[in-house]
Amino acid sequence: MKPNEQLQPTVLAIFGGGGDLTWRKLIPALFDLAQDRGLPAQFAIIAVDRVKFSDQRLRKHLQEGVNKFSRFGKPKAAAWNEFAQHIRYQQGDFKKPATYRALGAACNQLDKEWKTKAHRIFYMATPPSMFGEIPKYLGKAGLARDREHARIVVEKPIGYDLESARALNAVLAASFDESQIFRIDHYLGKETVQNILAFRFANPLFEPIWDRRYVESVFITVAETVGVELRGGYYDHAGALRDMVQNHLMQLLCLVAMEPMVSFEADEIRNKKVDVLHAVRPIHSDEVRLSAVRGQYGPGRHGGKKVPGYREEPGVAPDSATETFAALKLLIDNWRWQGVPFYLRTGKRLPCQVSEIAIHFRAVPHQAFPPDATLGWQPSRLVMCIQPDEGIVLGFQAKYPGPEIQLRPVDMHFNYRESFDAPSPDAYETLLWDVMKNDATLFMREDQVEAAWRILTPVVDVWSATPPSDFPNYPPGSWGPEGAQELLEAGHHWPLPTELRHSRAKARRGKGSDKKS
Ligand code: BG6
Repeated sequence: MKPNEQLQPTVLAIFGGGGDLTWRKLIPALFDLAQDRGLPAQFAIIAVDRVKFSDQRLRKHLQEGVNKFSRFGKPKAAAWNEFAQHIRYQQGDFKKPATYRALGAACNQLDKEWKTKAHRIFYMATPPSMFGEIPKYLGKAGLARDREHARIVVEKPIGYDLESARALNAVLAASFDESQIFRIDHYLGKETVQNILAFRFANPLFEPIWDRRYVESVFITVAETVGVELRGGYYDHAGALRDMVQNHLMQLLCLVAMEPMVSFEADEIRNKKVDVLHAVRPIHSDEVRLSAVRGQYGPGRHGGKKVPGYREEPGVAPDSATETFAALKLLIDNWRWQGVPFYLRTGKRLPCQVSEIAIHFRAVPHQAFPPDATLGWQPSRLVMCIQPDEGIVLGFQAKYPGPEIQLRPVDMHFNYRESFDAPSPDAYETLLWDVMKNDATLFMREDQVEAAWRILTPVVDVWSATPPSDFPNYPPGSWGPEGAQELLEAGHHWPLPTELRHSRAKARRGKGSDKKS
């Protein structure tokens, strides 16, 4: 394992160390970090869980996850064994003080062996019902006290509405200072999401037109082809609004709409983001119908296969009113964005997996070209492709070759993979690295979470008070219910996903060194 001198000695205690998130995401990301950037020379993972495991059995189980999910493929036995030595298991009930006493003792023992005071990161990779419990026990055991060395990581969901989010934040704040709390939204760890800030604020080109004078509408789409899979038990109490919009889509909205930051300090960026949320026009209960649309997928065929409807998925109530699709129209009441609609949509069992932000620009103020030259006219648009394609597409009008003036839309493409030969790390690698470096820039602050809930709570309340009469209302492989189109202002249409072109030049060149795009 490569030691990385930027990082301090660290103990990472994972509550839920035997669970799916640890297996699928955390350990593969830590293993990949160890191979790539390196981990602290003095490093230990203590997996805490209720089930019975020996160190050896746990390591074997985690190795299977790494074999499957490491971005470097199945590791060599020697590399895994070296990494695995840093993992140990501690059986314990999350609601028993003895668990925390044992954990504290294990941390103290490591400090003694390492002759230092290591940083202690407590990661809650547990069901959400434990989020309000573990911080209390950590606090009582004195493990939260050291502001410089102790940190806690919380996964989403942070509450299921404004009130419960506030309650959870209060529990966290009772034991930890806000500077010690890292609320994860894995979208913020994605390279392409971080690139939104680089693109907007490292280039003078687009910022002058990034406002209501030039932008007509903004579309944020996060579409998935998968259904709810084996997560019905959780999802049926959440739905698309809580599962995706409150966190991932709201974060994308903030990054697209925020004002330029003055510095790259964590709180400066988070202040600018929270300003956006505060400026979102509240949706009053009697306007929910005009600003939000919900849907649920029925049974049908998808990708050439027969797939069950949401209500037939394991763990889902047969008469479930939970939405698997949500679309919103939001307005931002500030100087920059007055009158520009931001359309957000997300759903499961949609035609393709795509996350992208499309900025549609206004038409020219005066159309000087003859009418038949502009028959194929489309608005100029800038599309930030987040996944699976990673890059940016700029669409504009060009003259079609020939004697007549004929305009046609054309695209310019920036493709991550072609411009940089460096692979993108997984979002969890980036986020775990930042927690170890004590950098909270990419994590959600208490006020951000609450501001996002404030916007969505009227929608959540109206939807739960008025069960839908038309569910299921979209077939698998469609773009959601018809109502999603009606949400849009006249003349606006949800854009089709943009395909990022791979240049033939690259194929000819073969794999080379980094080139400028
Ligand atoms: C999670 C949601 O936060 O994000 C899942 O709980 C969803 O329902 C997932 O599938 C999507 O993440 P990604 O990175 O695959 O777009």
